Amino acid sequence: MKHLILISIILFMQANVYAKDVKELGEYRVANAIHSIIQSTRKIYTSEISDKLLQDGTGSLLEYRHQKGFVPLPVQVIQQIGKDLSKSTGGNISIELKSKYFVNEKNRLIGREAEAWTYLEKQQNSAKNLKNMTWKPYVYINNAVDRDYLIYIVPDLATEYACIACHKSQENTASVKYAREQHGITGEPILKLWHMLGILKVMVAID
Ligand code: HEC
Repeated sequence: MKHLILISIILFMQANVYAKDVKELGEYRVANAIHSIIQSTRKIYTSEISDKLLQDGTGSLLEYRHQKGFVPLPVQVIQQIGKDLSKSTGGNISIELKSKYFVNEKNRLIGREAEAWTYLEKQQNSAKNLKNMTWKPYVYINNAVDRDYLIYIVPDLATEYACIACHKSQENTASVKYAREQHGITGEPILKLWHMLGILKVMVAID
């Protein structure tokens, strides 16, 4: 019995040391800063470029390359920044935007991303003031073959009405419904301001 208590105490202490250690890593602060920059970029791009063009008669479109006057979707801009970032840092930093209620099945949740979604959704469900709440990121260390990565997952929030309006129209698409069914996704996203539309996954290689 005594042994059991001792082992429990050691395990508890280790878990706490781990949680504390992760937050003290330089990579944690890097991931946190990248998240803030991406979130601001996304928000400003949507309100000042995508929305502005929509009012002017064009807007953002998946097939923007072939349409005069149209610009990429906010998600495409972030994905392009992610690709460039990964290239310019030699794979040390990368980002991904994904969702349980994906529009594009390539962005579906895989492995621990589903756990992260549940973890963040719980915070959303118990929040009193979503707009001003402080989200706790879902963080872990991924031991890859070549090196370890700090994985930092935060919600991707519907910060603008444009996100909600456009995603509402995606919900009614037959191909989206079909792809979700194929991957066993039931239910539907909460399409309201300040709610999670997806997750932002930041990966930073640990030195
Ligand atoms: C004009 C339409 C439009 C607007 C505005 C828009 N989205 Fe999307 N979003 C899409 C489409 C279409 C996709 C799928 C893109 C693809 O096929 O690669 C997508 C993909 C995503 C994804 C990746 C997961 C998935 O569903 O495939 C997230 C997360 C996301 N959007 C969140 C947002 C947020 C947050 C905003 C506002 C800041 C926003 N979107 C604004 C149309 C839009």
